[in-house]
Amino acid sequence: MKANEIFQEYNDHVLLTYTRMPAIFVKGKGSVLTDIQGKKYLDFFPGWGVGNLGHCHPKVMGAVREQIGKLIHIPNNFYNPHQAKLAKELVRVAFEGKIFFCNSGTEAVEAAIKFVRMYGQGKKFEIITTVNSFHGRTMGALTATGQEKHQKGFMPLMPGFKYVPFNDINALKAAVNGQTAAIMIELIQGEGGINIATKEYVKAIRQICDEKKILLVFDEVQTGIARTGEIFGFKHYGITPDVMCLAKALGGGLPIGAMIVKKELADCFKPGMHGSTFAGSPLICKAALGVLKAIYAEKIMKNVKTQGPYLIERLEGLKFKYDIIKEVRGLGLMIGVELTVDGTAIFKECFSRGLIINCTQGNVLRIMPALNVTRRQINKAIHILDGAIEATLKG
Ligand SMILES: Cc1ncc(COP(=O)(O)O)c(C=O)c1O
Repeated sequence: MKANEIFQEYNDHVLLTYTRMPAIFVKGKGSVLTDIQGKKYLDFFPGWGVGNLGHCHPKVMGAVREQIGKLIHIPNNFYNPHQAKLAKELVRVAFEGKIFFCNSGTEAVEAAIKFVRMYGQGKKFEIITTVNSFHGRTMGALTATGQEKHQKGFMPLMPGFKYVPFNDINALKAAVNGQTAAIMIELIQGEGGINIATKEYVKAIRQICDEKKILLVFDEVQTGIARTGEIFGFKHYGITPDVMCLAKALGGGLPIGAMIVKKELADCFKPGMHGSTFAGSPLICKAALGVLKAIYAEKIMKNVKTQGPYLIERLEGLKFKYDIIKEVRGLGLMIGVELTVDGTAIFKECFSRGLIINCTQGNVLRIMPALNVTRRQINKAIHILDGAIEATLKG
């Protein structure tokens, strides 16, 4: 198919739920994507947080190749060795707990919503989340998402949710009551504009949850799998959640989600209470095992701890040069550049110059390269971004 035909087919037959950039990608390796015309792009936002190891990582490809000819899918009324191994590995690096596997971030959040409601036994059912959070697109996760722009037109939402300003412990205290079953937060609001939870805030939430027997849920769909320089964001805080949601980078490009709950809570779910046909298949679990193996064998977190601060330093350099840059913030390789102006034109200019980044909340450039990104690639990205800002300002 030629490019024009592909655009036409999308136009005629694919629902318009996304704003798409006019590029057709056919190949990816590490931080480089190649389009149908052979143009190469430096991908500093691989898969919206899916590509923590970059595109087509050899350990993920190897695991998938090895498994695909043996057994792709087996439903969850049977056992498969790769799910057992993945559960063991995840619990080992997370916390003593048990896992429910699913296929995406929104499903991990739905599982958490159902889990905390079951924990509340009908007496405690309210879930408190934060303003500007993002938890997914299905009805429960959409309701949990503290942003009206995503909910508009889909009313009525699920009852039993409350939203409080992020990093505001007094607002949270005021929102808690006898019906509160859980508090759910992202440690760094990703879609909300790279807003980092303070240590005092997270510590205080844990304290409230312990005092009032409320479950603490961390949505680590975006912050998890080494993105921040630790395997999970919560490791920076020294605070362990009761429930954690994972997805995105866990499958190395293949769809997987997971909800991990503390072992002592695990009995809340009994057979038949929740499920998913595709989830935890041998193929997907094998890919996820390949991801975890690569992260540790290739010292990926060490690279994040080196390249993250370097990227921030280079972005700070651009802040000196351009006063439209208000703030550079981030942890590890999850970085936001807040502008005083709308960022769409800059993001588009970067794209046309061969650099893929993201723009969220209108004025925050979100930069989340693969975690094995090199210094050379960072220098090249900064060069492109610099040129793109200059060109945009000149109009
Ligand atoms: C923190 C967080 N939770 C949940 C989701 C939803 O994940 P998915 O798109 O896989 O359903 C996202 C997606 O961006 C996310 O960033």
